[in-house]
Amino acid sequence: MKYGLILLTVLAFEQLTSGLENGLARKPPMGWMSWERYRCITDCRKYPDECISERLFKRMADLLVSEGYLAAGYNYVNIDDCWSTMERDSEGRLVADPERFPNGMKHLADYIHSKGLQFGLYQDIGTKTCAGYPGMKDYFEIDAQTLADWDVDFIKIDGCYADETKMVEDYVLFGELMNRTGRPMLYSCSWPVYQEYKGIIPDYEILKQTCNMWRNWGDIEDSHSSVESITKYFSDNQKRIQPHSGPGHWNDPDTLILGNYGLSYDQSKSQLAVWTVLAAPLLLSNDLASVKPEIRELLLNREIIAVNQDPLGIQGQLLKTVNRIEIWKRPILPKVKHEMTHAIAFVSRRADGAPYAIRVKLFEDLELSNASDVKGYLVYDLFNTALKPIFLRADASFETRINPTGANFYRFVPQFDNIIRGFNDLRS
Ligand SMILES: *[C@@H]1O[C@H](CO)[C@@H](O)[C@H](O)[C@H]1NC(C)=O
Repeated sequence: MKYGLILLTVLAFEQLTSGLENGLARKPPMGWMSWERYRCITDCRKYPDECISERLFKRMADLLVSEGYLAAGYNYVNIDDCWSTMERDSEGRLVADPERFPNGMKHLADYIHSKGLQFGLYQDIGTKTCAGYPGMKDYFEIDAQTLADWDVDFIKIDGCYADETKMVEDYVLFGELMNRTGRPMLYSCSWPVYQEYKGIIPDYEILKQTCNMWRNWGDIEDSHSSVESITKYFSDNQKRIQPHSGPGHWNDPDTLILGNYGLSYDQSKSQLAVWTVLAAPLLLSNDLASVKPEIRELLLNREIIAVNQDPLGIQGQLLKTVNRIEIWKRPILPKVKHEMTHAIAFVSRRADGAPYAIRVKLFEDLELSNASDVKGYLVYDLFNTALKPIFLRADASFETRINPTGANFYRFVPQFDNIIRGFNDLRS
């Protein structure tokens, strides 16, 4: 009897801590999403290349393939708000706008799938979407089935026009109804941001059970200050939110805005480095046809993507700030004997003139291990992958010089051998 009770408690605990088990999002999802760049442009006569339409998503699907993004891992093509008609059909079903999506959603899904990509769509838990299109309230069952019928792979459910104190039950219910369709669909939730704005602390245990990812904070806009304010939310709240991110269930600071109007080259490095340390989903929201080559190169940097996609899926944190240089640190594989490898980003909050040099001690400042058998670290420059790594002793210091509002990003791999083969530029 007593044993049974303990077993039951253990099982319940196990269930509560293991997270949603639909097999999806074992690594942070990657792809493309329309909202930040294309908003709710619906006038296709005036803006034929920008309106939310079949043409736009087919074009982006083609570009994901031809520009090498799919090969690098960006495999979702996600429609955000403003895709439906203003009314449901006579049977209560959602309808894609017939002028902008003349062949319907299933056709678009088939096209996207034919390219080796996955198809994402948007809806809202309340009575309307944020832009005023029909929401899902009172139509959960029929909408879950419609999404499954259209072969949707990823669904973002927003939280406009809903009661923040009751929306959790609805999100949970909709998740169950999606599960019952039998089609695995990545479930992206927005309730934390709506609750946070109302001063309600989200229940992360239910979140992990219900959603594959969730928006913690406000919508990103096309500026470095927007990236900075979201970054600040993540560092200010890291103690509370960091432990809940992991394989299958991720904190989401919103889309990458690299390739748009607002970020300089150095600021683009800054967003990419911070999002990578945060194990954030990497969803692009830009015009893939007009991304400058040097920005595309950042987005396709395989070593940075590998850090973002590290199988352990541990969200990194702000370690400390030195002279307005933030030091962000994330443990990643490989684990060498008893020590983790670390990705470390130096993110400048400085805007004063010249590149700013800081010198940090590996053990005291970066809090890397100086265990007696650790001989040192190989340091790889993630933004300059052609450079050979340098070797540093565990008691050494490391100097780096960061451009104003930019970031430098490194991988520190622990070394246990005395002889470092192939690296003759040893420094200490
Ligand atoms: C539904 O939930 C069960 C239990 O968590 C899970 O094993 C299954 O993979 C889910 N199915 C879908 C289609 O999400």
